[in-house]
Amino acid sequence: MTPLLLEDRYGRVATDLRVSLTDRCNLRCSYCMPPEGLDWLPDDSVLTDDEVVRLIRIGVERLGIQEVRFTGGEPLVRRGLVDIVRRTRELGEHLDISVTTNALGLSRNATALKDAGLDRVNVSLDTARADTFHRITRRDRFHDVVAGLEAAQAAGLGPVKVNAVLLRGENEDQAPELLAWCLERGYELRFIEQMPLDAQHGWSREGMVTAEEIFASLSTAYTLTPAEEPRGSAPAELFTVDGGPGTVGVIASVTRPFCGDCDRVRLTADGQVRNCLFARSESDLRAALRDGVDDEELAQRWVVAMLGKAAGHGIDDPTFLQPDRPMSAIGG
Ligand code: 5AD
Ligand code: SF4
Repeated sequence: MTPLLLEDRYGRVATDLRVSLTDRCNLRCSYCMPPEGLDWLPDDSVLTDDEVVRLIRIGVERLGIQEVRFTGGEPLVRRGLVDIVRRTRELGEHLDISVTTNALGLSRNATALKDAGLDRVNVSLDTARADTFHRITRRDRFHDVVAGLEAAQAAGLGPVKVNAVLLRGENEDQAPELLAWCLERGYELRFIEQMPLDAQHGWSREGMVTAEEIFASLSTAYTLTPAEEPRGSAPAELFTVDGGPGTVGVIASVTRPFCGDCDRVRLTADGQVRNCLFARSESDLRAALRDGVDDEELAQRWVVAMLGKAAGHGIDDPTFLQPDRPMSAIGG
């Protein structure tokens, strides 16, 4: 086997594979999709469990992938998730395997996921209030998420991370409160600037709550000190809270992009390689796979898919165009 790397023209090497297992979701977050949902991918275009695992195996065995993160839509709505995790774990003890989830139903699955070899979960939660949760997600499920978080922690899927997006006029004043809530429970909170990836194309720069604003808001209640660890390819700028041990992260994806250090590559639920969240084109591994192409050739095509990776997301360029697929069909 010829060892290959997923290296782009700027010398960045992708070792972190994000695999979207479905574009469907059981929430309807207003910054993500409209109330009626989206036109979901047809079943026959979604990769089967065997196809997903085969591509992950090629990534791990031939292309230097070290981390696998399952995303959606909502990955827990994919029936085969536990099995896919188990088969991914069989590819190597060294792999770091995690799931980004809204935690609905996680209380039922946390132990099975842990036993299958999952390392960690990242839970998306934007508020510690049930009424705000209902307004943002359009579903009255706050308490299910809380149960999911507790189950994840009890099952040893930690450190449990919580990802939050702040929305103007919605939860923008709740950052210190959410931080207090997470610190009390031992969850690592990270705020993410809202990116132009919503299906409705409703994002605007003015509407986005910036990392600077988030930092200022948290600083009204807490003393934040930059954590010493170098940032590396981890996008969160990490702060210790009131001298530690608690921490909080702020991910300034838009105002302080970390594209130069990006080590990610994405696979959509329908088998397209995306070299960037904001890529304007994709490489169709599903068609190749279903045409009977062998592992070596699939690996080659994946390598070629990286060569078109842009230097940065270009959100500030006057020519910026949102990708055709929304976040829910790419995976976070
Ligand atoms: N900008 C930033 N984060 C987003 N998420 C969903 N849409 C956006 C967006 N437009 C977050 C979710 C979840 C993760 C998958 O990405 O809240 O935490
Ligand atoms: Fe679902 Fe995540 Fe989109 Fe919310 S942000 S609707 S949880 S995919």
